[in-house]
Amino acid sequence: MSETTTREGTPIEGGPTSMAAASPDEIARARHHYHDLRVGRVVRETADASSIVFDIPAELARVFEYESGQFLTLQVPHAGKALYRCYSLASSPVVENEHKVTVKRVADGRISNWLNDNLKAGDIVKVLPPAGHFVLGDTGADLLLFAGGSGITPVISIVKTALANTSRRVQLVYANRDEASIIFRPELDELAARYGDRLRIVHRLDVRDGFIDEAAVRRHVEGHSGCEAYICGPGPFMDTVERTLLAAGMPAASVYIERFASLADEDEVAGHSGPLRKVELSLDGADQAIEVREGETVLHAAKRSGLEPPSSCESGFCGCCMAKLVRGKVKMLNNDFLSAAEVEEGWVLTCQSVPETDDCKVEYPE
Ligand SMILES: Cc1cc2nc3c(=O)[nH]c(=O)nc-3n(C[C@H](O)[C@H](O)[C@H](O)COP(=O)(O)OP(=O)(O)OC[C@H]3O[C@@H](n4cnc5c(N)ncnc54)[C@H](O)[C@@H]3O)c2cc1C
Ligand code: FES
Repeated sequence: MSETTTREGTPIEGGPTSMAAASPDEIARARHHYHDLRVGRVVRETADASSIVFDIPAELARVFEYESGQFLTLQVPHAGKALYRCYSLASSPVVENEHKVTVKRVADGRISNWLNDNLKAGDIVKVLPPAGHFVLGDTGADLLLFAGGSGITPVISIVKTALANTSRRVQLVYANRDEASIIFRPELDELAARYGDRLRIVHRLDVRDGFIDEAAVRRHVEGHSGCEAYICGPGPFMDTVERTLLAAGMPAASVYIERFASLADEDEVAGHSGPLRKVELSLDGADQAIEVREGETVLHAAKRSGLEPPSSCESGFCGCCMAKLVRGKVKMLNNDFLSAAEVEEGWVLTCQSVPETDDCKVEYPE
């Protein structure tokens, strides 16, 4: 892992130095570029998790405006390449004037461990502005929140905003391995004391209560008809909660899920064969030609060719892999991220893009 740079923040590419008077178009363009942000402070939350608070310069304030539940994408140098990772904002845009993400170590994970071990105040990190659809809507319905481990990050932001900005009642079920691994314990205790009538927090500990099962979810959901549910945590945790909520009659449209892990099945994609299409990629300032198999996505082919383009969910919902199609035609298999206007401008999700012509060129944002 190489050192993060300590350069000063650079002016916005594609927009004026001050965004205060920028047009919506200029802001939208700047939201598709990485910006150098200075780390204001690093806070050790637990033995396995640290929060990173970024200083947002005044000229980027509007570009980095966010909704509770959204995430930042960090570009981190690793072994001579850039790797990209999404981290949800744990701060609330309505109660805190800061952009805080919290990174929990993943066993053998390259970036989560590096960030926990090395990042310090004053370092500069390249960051893509906030994105994501796992956000608090304005239906006014009471909230039933399920978080497991680091899945608390977008959920605590939603809790803080809902309590401060609305009169919605909130029940949070928060699962962790043990007491010591509970992230944000003091902050949650304070919220519970302050909003006692509207906030109920149920801590589940694996070592004491076992993994959450359908019976437990059913108990938590009783008496909460008409609620909206937000779920974020390990795969099996989310599957159990989602399945049980739907079986209990909660409409699918009222259940929101944020997946931190990739859903891609490497073996399934790697099995493609057939004619090859040439695709040119502009990545980290260099042009590279790759060959894409029939039915294969641009992202998968790039990875198979030894490149490390930005990616995270690999399912079309995080936006981390987006790039501009400047030539040729692709078919997007799934798009739960880009707006119609962005698609019109040529933005594509490379994890979902299958080339349909031989002359495709995609440019990743810099
Ligand atoms: C929308 C979104 C929001 C997220 N928010 C958060 C958040 O708020 N907090 C948080 O902590 N995380 C969050 N994540 C997860 C985060 O983006 C990273 O996936 C996580 O930190 C792991 O990254 P890593 O580089 O440490 O792990 P990686 O190096 O990518 O490793 C992940 C796993 O793959 C294995 N692995 C590593 N290298 C290889 C290899 N070469 N071949 C095969 N397997 C390998 C590792 O053993 C590990 O189990 C979020 C993800 C998404 C999509
Ligand atoms: S990697 Fe998440 S949308 Fe492509």
